Amino acid sequence: MYTPAITGTGVYTPDQIVTNDELVAAFNAHAEKFNARHADAIAAGEIEAKQPSSTEFIVSASGIHQRYVLDKTGVLDPEVMHPHLPERGNDEPSLMAEMALDACAKALERAGRRAEEVDLVICAASNHERPYPAIAVEIQQLLGAGGFAFDMNVACSSATFGMQAAADMIRTGSVRRALVVNPEICSGHLEWRDRDCHFIFGDVCTAAVLERADEAKGAHFVIRSTRCATQFSNNIRNNNGFLRRTREGHMADRRDMLFVQEGRKVFKEVLPLVSRHIAEHMADEGIEAAELKRLWLHQANKAMNDFIGRKVMGRVPEAHEQPNILQDYANTSSAGSIIAFSKYSDDMAPGDTGLICSFGAGYSVGSVLVERAG
Ligand code: COA
Repeated sequence: MYTPAITGTGVYTPDQIVTNDELVAAFNAHAEKFNARHADAIAAGEIEAKQPSSTEFIVSASGIHQRYVLDKTGVLDPEVMHPHLPERGNDEPSLMAEMALDACAKALERAGRRAEEVDLVICAASNHERPYPAIAVEIQQLLGAGGFAFDMNVACSSATFGMQAAADMIRTGSVRRALVVNPEICSGHLEWRDRDCHFIFGDVCTAAVLERADEAKGAHFVIRSTRCATQFSNNIRNNNGFLRRTREGHMADRRDMLFVQEGRKVFKEVLPLVSRHIAEHMADEGIEAAELKRLWLHQANKAMNDFIGRKVMGRVPEAHEQPNILQDYANTSSAGSIIAFSKYSDDMAPGDTGLICSFGAGYSVGSVLVERAG
C-alpha cells in the first residue's frame, strides 16, 4: 500500500465579476417588467407578483458579496437572465475542458509535474456539459495525460468524493498520479429569475494533483484518510435529465429543470449531518479538536460554516482557522472547499493537520483529513 498525498492545487477564476448591487438591479428590473407584463393576472390573483431582492438580504442571509461568472451580460440583462454560453461544436474544446486546462496547468506547476506523468483524470462536478464522451477523457487528451479518465457527479461533494476515489487507487497502486478537476459552471443551472436563490452561485474551476507521498517533489499534504457518506433527500434537486425530451417532446421552461432548493430545510438537516460526520471521522483517526489546525469547508453559506466550525472546534474558530472564500466567489458547488484549501494552506507547518469537507445535494458529505509534510 502507498500513502497518497495532495501535491498541488490550481484555481481558474473567470475574469467577469457580478457584484450584489449589479445583480439586485438586474433582478429588480426583471421583476418590475414581469409584474407589468402580468398585471392583469396578478390583479386577478392567478399569479404572484415578484418581490424585489436586496443586497442587504443577500449579505445577511448568505455572506456573499460578489461572484465570478463566465458571462455577465446575459445574467444582468433583465430580458435574458441567464449566461450567454454558445454551444461548442464537436471539433472545439468544451467549456468545461477549457476551464479545466487552466486549473490543471496551475496544479501541475505547483506539484512540479508534467501532464504526461498523470495516469488518471477524474472530472468531478455537479453538472456536466454532456453525458458522453466523458469531459474527463477530453481533458486527458487535451493535456496529453496517459492512463484513463472518467466523469463523476456527487453535486457539491464531487471534489472530495473524487479525491477519495483517486486516493484509494493510488493507495492500491492501480494509478500513480491523478488529477481531480472540478469545473463548475453554476451560472448555467441557476434560476437567475428566482429571488430566493438568484444570488447563490458563481463559476470557477479547481484542480488537485494527487500522487504517492514518497514521490512528492516539494511541500505537500499527506492524505491520512477520507470519508464519504450519502443520504437521499429531495431538498436540493435539478430534474434536467435526458428524459425531459421524452416526457415533453420539447425543452419546456419548467422551474424544476434548474437548481431548486428548500434552503431552510437544507440548513436544518445538513448541519447536524455534517457536524456528526466530521466528529466521527476525527474520532476514528484519533484526532482531537485541539489538534485540528484548519477547516476548509464547503462554501455555501457563512452562517452554516460558522456553525460547523464552532461545533467541530468546540469554540469560535479564528478566521484563519476556517477560511471562507464565499464572500468573493459565492457558492461554487464542489469547488468551494478546494478554493479555500488552495488559497489558505501554504502557511501551515509540517505536522499540522487540517480537514477538507464538502456537503450538498444527495444529501452527500465528504471529508479529507490531511497532514502537512515536506
Ligand atoms: N431579497 C430579499 N428578501 C428575500 C430574498 C431576497 N433575495 N430571498 C428571500 N427573501 C425573504 C423571504 O421572502 C423571507 O421573507 P418572510 O420571512 O417574510 O417570508 C425571508 O427573506 C427569509 O427567507 P429564507 O428563504 O428563509 O432565507 P434564509 O435566511 O434561509 O436564507 C438561503 C436563504 C438560501 C441563503 C439559506 O437558506 C441557505 O443558504 N440555505 C442553505 C443552502 C445550501 O447550503 N444549499 C446547498 C446548495 S449546494
